[in-house]
Amino acid sequence: SDPDSLQDFCVANLNSTISVNGFPCKPDTEVTFHDFFFDGLSKEGDTKNVFGSKVTPGSVLEFPGLNTLGISMNRVDFAPGGLNPPHSHPRATESGVVIQGKLLVGFISTNNVYYSKVLTAGQMFVIPKGLVHFQLNVGEGKALTFTAFNSHLPGAAVLPLNLFASTPAIPNGVLTKAFQVEDDVINAIKSKFGS
Ligand code: GLV
Ligand code: MN
Repeated sequence: SDPDSLQDFCVANLNSTISVNGFPCKPDTEVTFHDFFFDGLSKEGDTKNVFGSKVTPGSVLEFPGLNTLGISMNRVDFAPGGLNPPHSHPRATESGVVIQGKLLVGFISTNNVYYSKVLTAGQMFVIPKGLVHFQLNVGEGKALTFTAFNSHLPGAAVLPLNLFASTPAIPNGVLTKAFQVEDDVINAIKSKFGS
């Protein structure tokens, strides 16, 4: 859903001090085939973290050749039981294909209807733009999915981190009222994310 391009390509100059709703292009004379290929999704992500999952991004920030082309991809690795926690992408619809393992993929509409299915290798899913979604590894072993976005920089608002690990922190009074719990519950959750 990014704007249409006005030229064949516009390999990002990520070092530019200006940005105009995207990145300026590096000069055509400096562009080579290297700019249109990216190895960053070839390695398994390190899932040793509280969630047991790792998103390896392939957005314009990692792969500057995507600049202005309106697409990008991620790879997401899961340890057994690993969760890619509830999050949303403000600038893109997401589609994905499961490569390995067994993933519970779910999203929630703005009407609070929950849509979900357990997927295995070769099966695909779609997450409408901006909706909150997650993937949970419900198989015995590891799981792997590749995801694709209609933005060169989809962005991700990860709910647990947004709410409980922001800088500066959201006042407890907001969170106790929002979740209808006492201070100690909010503090316990915040402490899990080192804040
Ligand atoms: C999965 O939800 C991803 O954002 O890559
Ligand atoms: Mn996502």
